[in-house]
Amino acid sequence: MVDESTARLGYAHFLERVLIDEDTLRARVAALGAQISADYADKTPLLICLLRGGVMFMTDLSRSLTIPHHLDFMAVSSYGVGARVTRGQPRITLDLNTDIRARHVLLVEDIVDSGHTVDHVLRMLQTRDPASLKVCVLLDKPSRREVYVPITYRGFEIPDVFVFGYGLDLDEYFRNLPFIGVVKQELL
Ligand code: IMP
Ligand code: MG
Repeated sequence: MVDESTARLGYAHFLERVLIDEDTLRARVAALGAQISADYADKTPLLICLLRGGVMFMTDLSRSLTIPHHLDFMAVSSYGVGARVTRGQPRITLDLNTDIRARHVLLVEDIVDSGHTVDHVLRMLQTRDPASLKVCVLLDKPSRREVYVPITYRGFEIPDVFVFGYGLDLDEYFRNLPFIGVVKQELL
């Protein structure tokens, strides 16, 4: 559990190892951006970022796209501060400002773990009649999956470890790190 005073010790206090370094992240995001730019070459997709974890990924992904596109944001909550397990139905805490009817929507998320968050958001978005709806996720933890999630664009498949950095938090801290790190097991 991280709090304001232990956060001041710095990320290194919590870091077991770097899982994905900054250069590797940058190269993979650029590759995803190139692939999405090609796949949506004749379209103007709407990228929807799930706050807050997806924000670093979406802004870097957006900058790597060479096609016109729009951005919007929504927030759902499924994890409480200090909690390490999914509990029940995710709640929508911030909705879109964009009408997605007939739009080509790409949902951008930091990580798919149990799958409940993305599954819930996809079902909700689907009722608004988008022209297409696809998922782009930076990290995939398939060993933890409880519900199937159709992932079209995947950054990295990772093992069942708790990670932080590049948007992902440890009790709301360290989202700003430019790499993905594994938290020390004894601190979980
Ligand atoms: P799911 O609903 O179980 O797929 O959970 C997805 C959400 O859980 C993500 O959007 C993250 O916010 C959070 N999450 C899952 N695994 C991790 C992790 O290893 N580090 C930080 N957040 C995580
Ligand atoms: Mg998240």
